[in-house]
Amino acid sequence: MSVPGLGDDWYESSGVWAGPRRLLREELYSGRLFFPPHLVPYWDHPLVSALPQHSKDALLARHLFQYLEFTSHFETRVVNRATEQIAGGHSGVDAARSVRLQAYRIYCDEAYHSLYSLDAVDQIATACGTAPLPYDFQPFLRRLDAAGEQLMPGQPGLAQLLQVVVFETLITALLNDIPRDGRVLSLVRDIVRDHAKDEGRHHVFFSRFFGELWTRQDTSVRVRAARCLPELIRRSLLPYLEPLRRSLVAAGLTGTQAQEVLDDSYPDDRVDAGIRDTARHSLRLFEDNRVLDVPGARDAFAAARLVD
Ligand SMILES: [Fe+2]
Ligand SMILES: [Fe+2]
Repeated sequence: MSVPGLGDDWYESSGVWAGPRRLLREELYSGRLFFPPHLVPYWDHPLVSALPQHSKDALLARHLFQYLEFTSHFETRVVNRATEQIAGGHSGVDAARSVRLQAYRIYCDEAYHSLYSLDAVDQIATACGTAPLPYDFQPFLRRLDAAGEQLMPGQPGLAQLLQVVVFETLITALLNDIPRDGRVLSLVRDIVRDHAKDEGRHHVFFSRFFGELWTRQDTSVRVRAARCLPELIRRSLLPYLEPLRRSLVAAGLTGTQAQEVLDDSYPDDRVDAGIRDTARHSLRLFEDNRVLDVPGARDAFAAARLVD
């Protein structure tokens, strides 16, 4: 299992080796945006549109900060938690040394993604004067981990490996769309482009790793894992609304108004459709490995509205 870009070629092609530190430069007052507004679901809500311009500017800055803070936590606390199992040789898959080396390269990539995400928050916040709100990742992590605890009790390691397979095989529109949007600050576009490049290689690695992992599980474990996967997909992708609520209140809305904005902007059917679209490659991976043929699996995926 050798993935292009994660062998010896990683030392020339990965972002951490080949990419420069991205800097804000002189763009802040040139009219460039912090984040593409069309990718902010609450942006066109009447209660948001009615806010004064300076509050809307700060709201968009905080949306960017929260996206980057989420990324920086997720990479180290979820992705690298599981990647270390593979790299350290205790994932339950008898990984060859070359596979472990590739996993350690991913581990470095993810740590670097965390670093430059927070570095970008720091550069932009300092320059624009909008302070990031304190970001609490713990409730999101608890919700994610609870799926494994409930559906695969006693197997936290395997649940964490499945989490990382799910997340690393998702195709998030943000990684593709932000770099193409010329209205957005170059710093933001550059780091998202850098990130997407590394993630393309990770996607291949984790798709192949899943095949190895799956064939090694006995039938009873497969049944539990197959029923857990839909919940892992949903909990990875359900919008984490609490930071958004606090940002809307900081922009001047009351708590009730903020709740109204979120209820209107994240209706269940739109959230479900977004999850299914983002998870389409992960779903194909699980179909290809016959995960949905396990007893009870297809029903669990259908109940999670991931398949018809
Ligand atoms: Fe990453
Ligand atoms: Fe990754």
